[in-house]
Amino acid sequence: MTFQENISLKPFNTFGIDVAAKYFASFNSIEKLQQILTHPIAQGYPVLIVGGGSNILLTTNYEGLVLKNEIEGIQLIREDEQHVYVQAGAGVNWHQFVLYCLAHAYAGVENLALIPGSVGASPMQNIGAYGVEIKDVFHSLEAVSRQNLNTVVFYKEDCAFGYRESVFKNICKDQFVITSVTYRLNKIPNFKTSYGAIQHALDEMGVSTLNIQDIATAVMQIRNSKLPNPNEIGNAGSFFKNPEITAADFEVLRNTYPDIVGYPTAENLVKVAAGWMIEKAGWKGYREKDAGCHSKQALVLVNHGQATGTEIFALSEKIIASVHEQFGVYLHREVNIY
Ligand code: EPU
Repeated sequence: MTFQENISLKPFNTFGIDVAAKYFASFNSIEKLQQILTHPIAQGYPVLIVGGGSNILLTTNYEGLVLKNEIEGIQLIREDEQHVYVQAGAGVNWHQFVLYCLAHAYAGVENLALIPGSVGASPMQNIGAYGVEIKDVFHSLEAVSRQNLNTVVFYKEDCAFGYRESVFKNICKDQFVITSVTYRLNKIPNFKTSYGAIQHALDEMGVSTLNIQDIATAVMQIRNSKLPNPNEIGNAGSFFKNPEITAADFEVLRNTYPDIVGYPTAENLVKVAAGWMIEKAGWKGYREKDAGCHSKQALVLVNHGQATGTEIFALSEKIIASVHEQFGVYLHREVNIY
């Protein structure tokens, strides 16, 4: 078992923040993970698990052990008339998993094409885009308890999935390492094209008979047109969540801002497009040294090169304060801060 010391974490976070980890190791099996977790270094220091590193902002050196999950493999484990149950290693790149599903005509994740990150991270924050969330196709996951090293299975009802939320971000935070996820995919597709931009993209593509590949292509086109590619410009996708406010508060805002964007979620609640408010508050395309707000999607903060995590965090503080001052609404970060 090898632990590297004082290594740069720049390649391991999509924001491209150059901080160091005191110790670093990777694992590609449950057994190797269990061995590492019993080692005195893992017992004596804080441990941070990273997958694709696409939902973290590192503001300082990590004075502990960073563990990279590299458990690979995708396998069909069961099928019935309507569904296939496909298990993927937590270290599998999410988009590669989507491509696998497209190639095998397994439906359900086509709207989630091109989301950065790994399979293991997908249930952590119930990733979602264009009208679909991972909870819609989630069956179960296997994890290792960091306390007693036992393997545990979580079924959908155990995960308390919500909007970019699960038990793994809340009551079970830092207690388990997800090692594989099993998805229940559909043999007969149930196309979700009602998210405005998708239908428009499909129309532009001239699609008449819909299939899952067309939807994935449309989603990729939309994402490529507004979301920065982390390989070109550091970012972690949406930095903030879209806040929910009461329908009454939304109506008050709409009196002042008739073009405000919001979607009813539950009775008397409306999810407001944070990107719209941030843009309206004047931040879209803003840049201070190398920390910035993306010019095509204001919900995404970017590292133009040499920004520190502290600078990006400071920019997020300013945006939160400014949106609160103008709209009376608090934004909450979606990205995990370390
Ligand atoms: N908008 C603006 N200005 C902006 C950004 C957005 O006016 O700078 C408006 C848009 O015109 C649109 C509305 O806000 O009317 C919503 O925008 P968009 O469709 O781009 O989606 P979003 O609500 O900003 C969410 C997710 C994204 C996901 C998209 C598509 C969150 C926090 N973000 O963004 O997820 O790709 O919907 O489903 O829910 C992520 O989580 O990292 C992520 C990228």
